[in-house]
Amino acid sequence: MYLHVTISATSNQLLLKNLVVFASGSGSNFQSLIDAVSEGKLEANIVGLISNNESAYAIERADINGIQTLIISPNDFDSETDYSIELLKTLKDWETDLIVLAGYLRKIPTEIIEVYRNRILNIHPSLLPKYGGKGFYGSKVHEAVIKNKEIESGCTVHLVTEEYDKGPILGQAKVQITETDSPADLAKKVLEKEHQLLSEVIQEYLKTFKN
Ligand code: GRF
Repeated sequence: MYLHVTISATSNQLLLKNLVVFASGSGSNFQSLIDAVSEGKLEANIVGLISNNESAYAIERADINGIQTLIISPNDFDSETDYSIELLKTLKDWETDLIVLAGYLRKIPTEIIEVYRNRILNIHPSLLPKYGGKGFYGSKVHEAVIKNKEIESGCTVHLVTEEYDKGPILGQAKVQITETDSPADLAKKVLEKEHQLLSEVIQEYLKTFKN
């Protein structure tokens, strides 16, 4: 009986999937994943952070938590293909199972989307399909929502496809907007929801993976 228990615990450990997070800025969503793993709410390994921005605070968060980082920008390459080759090499070296875009402000090359089809998730600060697509990022989303006098907004986790913010939706969380909310107030409310939603959706989504 003891032997059986030991074996199942070991194989469970081996089944943990490897997440690579892409972030360009503060990385508070990245931090929410680190916290969810340490609290046992997200059963996965965060094996690396990729950033295009060497001053992103996300990099410091990675350092503090002993997570390896690659800083890579498409601007440093002659072509998108060269950039993709380099990215793919790292993703393979890190044995990536799932890529999480958490505030990543660069386009993911088509080559990467093809190789990691259905294995790239993004978090967006609106209730997609509303306020998604080109031009809707960061504070611009919340400014537009307030300007249009919406009574609710929220966040969405979706799969990344070639079409910006149009991939299948995996999860959403709503927040209510009051008449006095500024775009900054709304951003704060939505970000709090993002921090819960992201790890919950990933935890559920990983259950659909074959071992
Ligand atoms: C979040 O609002 C996320 O939805 C969007 O970028 C922001 C990133 O925030 N894609 P942070 O860097 O995780 O704090």
